[in-house]
Amino acid sequence: MTTILVFANQKGGVAKTTSTLNTGVALREMNHKVLAVDLDPQGNLSMSQGIDPDSLTNSMYNVLIQRESIDGIIQRREIEVAPASIDLAGAELALSSAIGRERALEKALMEVKHRYDFILIDTPPSLGLLTINAFTAADGVIVPVQCEYLSLRGLAQLEKTLEMIRENLNPHVEIKGILPTMFDARTVHGREAIEILRDSFGGLVFNTVVRKTIKFAEAPVQGRSILSYEPEGKAAETYRTLAKELLNGNTSQHEERRFSEPLPVHGAYI
Ligand SMILES: Nc1ncnc2c1ncn2[C@@H]1O[C@H](COP(=O)(O)OP(=O)(O)O)[C@@H](O)[C@H]1O
Ligand SMILES: [Mg+2]
Repeated sequence: MTTILVFANQKGGVAKTTSTLNTGVALREMNHKVLAVDLDPQGNLSMSQGIDPDSLTNSMYNVLIQRESIDGIIQRREIEVAPASIDLAGAELALSSAIGRERALEKALMEVKHRYDFILIDTPPSLGLLTINAFTAADGVIVPVQCEYLSLRGLAQLEKTLEMIRENLNPHVEIKGILPTMFDARTVHGREAIEILRDSFGGLVFNTVVRKTIKFAEAPVQGRSILSYEPEGKAAETYRTLAKELLNGNTSQHEERRFSEPLPVHGAYI
């Protein structure tokens, strides 16, 4: 059985790409077979595995628009990667008039799905046709949320889109978990953000909390995951813990944080 997970949040800079890659590598370390699909025209996931999107002759664009085989574009890195290139930016428009436009990715994955335990999909910061293709192909959605600039309204919009997908395209897709990222324990702000998330979404929030550290910016420059860049570091360990939580439910040792003081809800969060 293959599990297809989408990392989505229409807000940019919340660690979608970082989480897709490092969760994938953590699952790979546990001997699972993993494919990461880069659906963001910016190609950050591809770049963070040392693939230059500008040098590609074929990418997810050709797969989705020209219905070429996805097998032909997959590259083996720390995990297997189906890369994006900048022309993917034109895919939404090109797809919009195509029959079965929401199912192009689901169809493409059919060919290779059996080879993997996990297919992780990185999406652009929008709820457009590329992200809808990902939701249509998926079993679950992981929503990284930056603790600093929490947008509950953004999460409500995402859930509304998923509701529409369930009604029309993929009845079983659901939010698998909300992942707090870039957490800074030293700020009241960061702690409040987690508290608000847990109050609003309860058990849907992962126990694993990803802390803010510069290592996450350093690793991709070298075309490596954080697990390869600093294998013994805390950041690597966090994504291993997340992978365990994904596999086992909320059982692993975790960084759950509860704070005793009552929390004012700031308008800035909503
Ligand atoms: N836990 C973290 N702490 C500090 N910086 C991070 C963390 N996670 C990601 N980043 C950095 O923040 C930026 C945005 O992350 P990215 O994964 O590209 O977000 P998205 O894909 O949602 O746009 C990148 O430069 C990344 O290296
Ligand atoms: Mg990204």
